[in-house]
Amino acid sequence: MIVIGSDHTGIELKKKIIEHLKLNNIQVKDVTNFDDQSGDDYPDIAYIICKNVLKEDAMGIAICGTGIGISIACNKMHGIRAAVCTDKYMAQMTRQDNNANVLCLGSRLENTKVIEIVDEYLNTEFAGGRHQRRVDKIHRIEQCQKDGVEYGDSI
Ligand code: RB5
Repeated sequence: MIVIGSDHTGIELKKKIIEHLKLNNIQVKDVTNFDDQSGDDYPDIAYIICKNVLKEDAMGIAICGTGIGISIACNKMHGIRAAVCTDKYMAQMTRQDNNANVLCLGSRLENTKVIEIVDEYLNTEFAGGRHQRRVDKIHRIEQCQKDGVEYGDSI
C-alpha cells in the first residue's frame, strides 16, 4: 500500500498519481482528502502522511510546492527517511541506497516526468549490505539526540 498526501499546491498532481497507481492495481491511502486546502500547512500534512507510513509500514508520497518543505518536515519524524526527487536516477538511488520510505515531489516544478519518478521509486529495492549500516547510522543519530547522548562519541 502507498500512503499519499499533499498540501493545497499539490491536489492536482496527487490526483494524477493516484489515478496512475490505481490503474496499476496499487492500493492507495489518500490521507489528505480535502477539497479546499488553501489554508493548510505542509508540516501538518507531513505529520499525517508519516504517521500513516509508520503505522502501515508502507511507503509514502508527499507533495508540496517544491517538495523541500514537506521533506524537511517528514525527516523530523523518527523512522522516516524522506527524499525530494526530481528525476528517475534520484528516485532509484534513494530507494536502493537510502531505503527512503517517503518520496517527496514538488507540484510547482516541471512535472512531465513525475510518473516515471514514482514508478522508479516504487520498483526499486533497497540494496541492503553496507547501505543498511549507513541507514542504521541515520537512525542512531535520531536516537542519540532523543537520549541526549553525543553521536560523535560512537564514530
Ligand atoms: C506553500 O505556498 C509552499 O510554501 C509549500 O507548498 C512548499 O513549497 C514549501 O516548501
